[in-house]
Amino acid sequence: MIRHSISALGLDIRVLVLAFALPIFVASGVARADHHEQDVDPNIKYRQSVMSIIGTNMGAIGDIMKNRLSMPGAIANHAGQMAESAGLIAPAFKKSISDGPTDAKEEIWQDWAKFEKALAKFEESARAMQTAASSGDPEQVGPAMKALGKSCGGCHKPFRKPKEESFRNM
Ligand code: HEC
Repeated sequence: MIRHSISALGLDIRVLVLAFALPIFVASGVARADHHEQDVDPNIKYRQSVMSIIGTNMGAIGDIMKNRLSMPGAIANHAGQMAESAGLIAPAFKKSISDGPTDAKEEIWQDWAKFEKALAKFEESARAMQTAASSGDPEQVGPAMKALGKSCGGCHKPFRKPKEESFRNM
């Protein structure tokens, strides 16, 4: 009779421990994530969001071209959005912040004029891509896409940490 009640109690304790420990464990994970979010400079988050928009539009053009999807007007639309987004880049990067979860190199603020030049080249290439796509001439679209891709590298190479050094690997 006594043994029986002890084992019953033992089970209860295990259930209780689980019932209490699990929410605490989950809550502490959430608290940590929140804390981490707060530590990240919102300027870093914003400029990465701006860059993601550009990357997403580029990816969408790639989807259409690689798979020969029939999306009338879409490539010109995406390229036009990229050219528009170019206007968001300089304000997004204006503040010199290279500490934290970012791949932006200090060189951006050491040579802002060069950064703006790479930016202008990108905007010009995106507009040219929009024009080429609107023309409907595949002979123009291929080279324009190549030049647009090159313009990303024209800024990433001098101003963004390479993949191997990315904060994402830390
Ligand atoms: C004028 C400079 C410049 C140009 C032009 C540029 N980028 Fe970037 N890009 C950057 C910098 C700097 C970062 C790193 C930002 C950071 O981590 O704070 C970046 C980051 C990114 C990221 C990662 C965003 C994230 O979520 O962390 C993507 C995707 C990207 N660029 C795509 C592109 C594509 C595609 C193009 C061309 C069509 C392009 N970029 C053109 C400077 C540029």
